[in-house]
Amino acid sequence: MSALALRDVRKVYPSGDTEIVALDHAELTVDDTELVALIGPSGSGKSTLLSIAGGLLTPSEGSVTVAGEDITAYSPKRLASFRRDHVGFVFQSLNLVPFLTAFENLTVVPELTGRRGAATRKRADDLLEELGLAARRNVRSTDLSGGERQRVAIGRALMNEPCLVLFDEPTSALDTERGEQVMGLIRREMTERGLAGVVVTHDRRMTGFCDRTVEITDGHLAA
Ligand SMILES: Nc1ncnc2c1ncn2[C@@H]1O[C@H](COP(=O)(O)OP(=O)(O)OP(=O)(O)O)[C@@H](O)[C@H]1O
Ligand SMILES: [Mg+2]
Repeated sequence: MSALALRDVRKVYPSGDTEIVALDHAELTVDDTELVALIGPSGSGKSTLLSIAGGLLTPSEGSVTVAGEDITAYSPKRLASFRRDHVGFVFQSLNLVPFLTAFENLTVVPELTGRRGAATRKRADDLLEELGLAARRNVRSTDLSGGERQRVAIGRALMNEPCLVLFDEPTSALDTERGEQVMGLIRREMTERGLAGVVVTHDRRMTGFCDRTVEITDGHLAA
């Protein structure tokens, strides 16, 4: 079973009187435990592809299967619960809650969605420990360094024990050395947990941490 299968996916955005074809005939399979790099210029459709893969957007045509489940025709409500249970996202903007600590950024969503309790708190502490953030547990995210914030965002994406983790430019705000540290960490965490993922990047050096690189140009994928 593959972790992700996009079949002949097309995504069209309306734009005034015309439309923008952000993805066309997109075919992508990510095997269990595989980490795929997705590289391409600005505007080529990378974030659109990630959003469709994770059920944040629905395709205009084609099908999306995650962990063997065809989510193409799911209602927005069903997609939201599917995402909550099975998908991890690390957004380019990170979206950490500024006035919350590292620990609270990991626990806020599970707690809001009814998973308040010792197991959630333990998982957050275990993840912070593994990510080298135990000593920063009670620091507000605004007071963390860029690399630390990146690691908090990775921890948060792993809280729900996802089967698929989607990273949108996880190293773009970091210098090369920090970027390589964070990519190394992503690789290690994904391998240790046996997870599948897609990493969007502009930086070809980061593709070395992945099993395979897929190029995207003007909404077209090429292996
Ligand atoms: N909500 C939207 N409405 C209309 N057009 C959109 C929307 N989102 C994206 N687009 C357009 O679709 C195309 C693909 O956008 P996308 O954000 O997927 O590119 P990207 O590869 O992630 O770019 P970047 O590297 O700059 O983040 C672009 O032409 C973009 O302007
Ligand atoms: Mg993007």
